[in-house]
Amino acid sequence: MFIAFEGIDGSGKSTISSRLAGYLKGKGMELLLTSEPQDESLRHPSQEDAMNGFLMFYRFMADRISHLRTLENSIAEGKIVISDRYMLSTIAYQGPLLEKFFGSYEETMRWMNEASRPVTLLPDVTFLLDAPPALALKRISGKAREAFEREDYLTKVRDYYLRARWPNMVIMDAGLSIEECMTVVIETLEKLLG
Ligand code: ADP
Ligand code: TYD
Repeated sequence: MFIAFEGIDGSGKSTISSRLAGYLKGKGMELLLTSEPQDESLRHPSQEDAMNGFLMFYRFMADRISHLRTLENSIAEGKIVISDRYMLSTIAYQGPLLEKFFGSYEETMRWMNEASRPVTLLPDVTFLLDAPPALALKRISGKAREAFEREDYLTKVRDYYLRARWPNMVIMDAGLSIEECMTVVIETLEKLLG
């Protein structure tokens, strides 16, 4: 089983994915908790690079392709794989910047899906922690701001996330407490696993 967590910066992905990993380990399950990007330098791009949609699309895709074998091997070994961000992050973050080249949301989505399909796994479930940017940014206000962490940009990213109609996506209210989020996640997985 492959589970992805998605959402804008500060929505709670790292918190909920590591809590879920702890819960499943406690039940004796074998798992891999991982995240994207794998390359640390991609977390801190310059403002100029961050706003270059094609540059970041290809960089994040290359990073994902390097990560693919690790994911596939763990899934083949029967482990539950939990990834803090996956392909939908590229769609949501780079999509708004690519739209000016493709002219419309639909064309942008079509291109991104075509370009990524051969090298992308489809998670069995993707939890989208949906949060208003103001709330998410408030949660991470103690940290130094990264290039992507601007309210106007994150508003567009959130819109892409919500419009993407990604398969097997569960949209969650990230404004709920951590405990409430965990209940939604565990109940969803229990239904899926039977
Ligand atoms: P992300 O990985 O999406 O950037 P984090 O999991 O690092 O977000 O969470 C950002 C901050 O918000 C952390 O300080 C975390 O403790 C807090 N946080 C996460 N989820 C919640 C929640 N549901 N309610 C309140 N605070 C939360
Ligand atoms: P991350 O460290 O997960 O950020 P956070 O914990 O604050 O949510 O990701 C680093 C940044 O990279 C984040 O701002 C989102 C961005 N990103 C993309 O723009 N495209 C992508 O494909 C991925 C995986 C991340």
